[in-house]
Amino acid sequence: MKVRGAVRPPGDKSISHRALMLAALARGTSALTGLLTGADVKSTAHVLRQLGAEISPIRDGVAVRISRAPLTAPRARLHCGNSGTTARLVLGILAGQQFAATLTGDASLRRRPMRRVTEPLRAMGAEITQLGDTLPVTIRGGRLRDLTYTSPVASAQVKSAILFAALTGRVAATIREPYRSRDHTERLFAHLGLDIHDRAGAIVFAPAVRPSGLPALDLSIPGDISSAAFLVAAAVLADAGELVVENVGVNPTRTGALVVLARMGAPVDRINLRDAGGEPVADLVVRPAALRGTDVTAAEVPTLVDEVPILAVLASRARGQTVFREVGELRVKESNRLELVAANLRAVGVKAEAQGNDLHVEGGDAPPRGRVDTAHDHRLAMAFAVLGTLRGAKITLSERQSVAISYPDFFRDLRICCA
Ligand code: S3P
Repeated sequence: MKVRGAVRPPGDKSISHRALMLAALARGTSALTGLLTGADVKSTAHVLRQLGAEISPIRDGVAVRISRAPLTAPRARLHCGNSGTTARLVLGILAGQQFAATLTGDASLRRRPMRRVTEPLRAMGAEITQLGDTLPVTIRGGRLRDLTYTSPVASAQVKSAILFAALTGRVAATIREPYRSRDHTERLFAHLGLDIHDRAGAIVFAPAVRPSGLPALDLSIPGDISSAAFLVAAAVLADAGELVVENVGVNPTRTGALVVLARMGAPVDRINLRDAGGEPVADLVVRPAALRGTDVTAAEVPTLVDEVPILAVLASRARGQTVFREVGELRVKESNRLELVAANLRAVGVKAEAQGNDLHVEGGDAPPRGRVDTAHDHRLAMAFAVLGTLRGAKITLSERQSVAISYPDFFRDLRICCA
């Protein structure tokens, strides 16, 4: 297989969620370009509309306009679809509101842990009712108090839920996490002029204005490195050629996969470095490479947490073994990614295994062949579709529609760049 040309990945999912939420809180009318049109971001828009925000249709190539209306009690449950970011961050926003709302989601989201967010929000003073650890969750916000919190997990969703609660409830928050997770919320807050900073490894936020005092957003959202990673991987696995992946967010809290790829023998060049709304952006130049196995450390995991499926696929083509340390969090993503990455690699002839919280993958060069169960998980579908581009590969996916969660045009783009 040969790669060629230039391709633009869709808008960053994490930034798209946050920008929509902040736009719904800020004054006036905001305009967002490059917003992801995937189903997860539409779930956020749907929930914000249920809470009273006015949001124009989310379509490719069209700026999305968001007008603030004071948030009001929803008439129905807030359905967050498949989106963990929607559920957890909206809980944060609701902690500072004076009404009750119930959140739910699809079968996958209803299996995912919510206490990691509801616990700190309760400590801030929100009233929360939930059975066990999962959705549905009913929250009644109100008068909050300041919080100093050490999170047991390096989760940007936990951190962001607290920051949104502090913003809407007008209280201070100090947050520590075991490793620094993606910092898009902090960057957007700073971009809007809010007082947020790093003090001795902790994030310290003290809102000086009401959310309605925030300026309207006029933002261009960069491409998602987590989506770009699939195209980068396809280019690394190709026999020849060169691929340019344009307009990719290269925030250092997200670029762990590029660091690991360089260590595996596939350096990716960054050109045209620039800034978009406080986020670094570049074009990536990728060429085919012979890979060697590596050890991915626990400290690196938050910077590549969504890229483990595609890195594991690449590891299956490397010389030697690759170990991903402390990736237990993958069990509570859209599917049990730890077990399913290993099981699906085995299903196509690769030696792979979850040992405790570590994932071990043995590299080889036999053509991968077999049936992959995506469990309707977008990142599993895309990772194994990339493996299927190898010469001699024969991979059948149990379904392909799940890519619409984060990368609706994935199969088109993969076809365009891989001849
Ligand atoms: C996200 C944070 C990560 C990531 C998810 C998006 C975000 O989850 O896996 O896809 O936008 O904050 P955790 O915060 O649970 O690690």
